[in-house]
Amino acid sequence: MKPVGIFYGSTSGSTESIAKKIQKALGKDAHLHDISKSDVATIQQYENLIFGTSAWGIGDMQDDWEDFIDSLNEVNYEGKKIALFGLGDQEEYPESFVDGLGTLYCRLPEKSIVVGEWPKDGYDYYFSLAEKEGKLVGLAIDEHHQSDKSEARIKKWTDQLKKSFN
Ligand SMILES: Cc1cc2nc3c(=O)[nH]c(=O)nc-3n(C[C@H](O)[C@H](O)[C@H](O)COP(=O)(O)O)c2cc1C
Repeated sequence: MKPVGIFYGSTSGSTESIAKKIQKALGKDAHLHDISKSDVATIQQYENLIFGTSAWGIGDMQDDWEDFIDSLNEVNYEGKKIALFGLGDQEEYPESFVDGLGTLYCRLPEKSIVVGEWPKDGYDYYFSLAEKEGKLVGLAIDEHHQSDKSEARIKKWTDQLKKSFN
């Protein structure tokens, strides 16, 4: 597998902590970047990309992703693969669970290269912008109510990515 750039936006640290666990699961060729300190050139250098955001209100991504999102239009996506993950709280926000993940997907200029879709089984919510054709567009993590499931989910998802990535 070629190097993987993991770009996350995190307000209170949960998404950052999950990004670190994803990095560990992928091995030494995975590199962590806080999206608030990143630029297009840094994204451009990876063929394999992972973008992670938490959810803040109906449809909102984490603030640093909201600030950065338009810059994604400047990336050349030729030869790239992108996987997404999102954090949320399915009990407090069951009508907008991991909406940040769904919005990040919607705002990606090139969707055909997205890998790492994830089953919606095992979560309990009414609505999510991240749900598309009966699946989630990326890995959903709920550290508030299902933190005991995060490790196994990360392992399964990263094993899947090792096969899908360049
Ligand atoms: C004001 C507020 C709004 C939130 N809105 C949502 C939401 O709409 N959907 C959701 O799934 N989680 C929502 N959450 C939960 C956060 O996404 C969750 O706490 C996440 O783990 C935060 O990650 P971070 O610290 O990396 O930013 C909200 C949390 C707060 C405090």
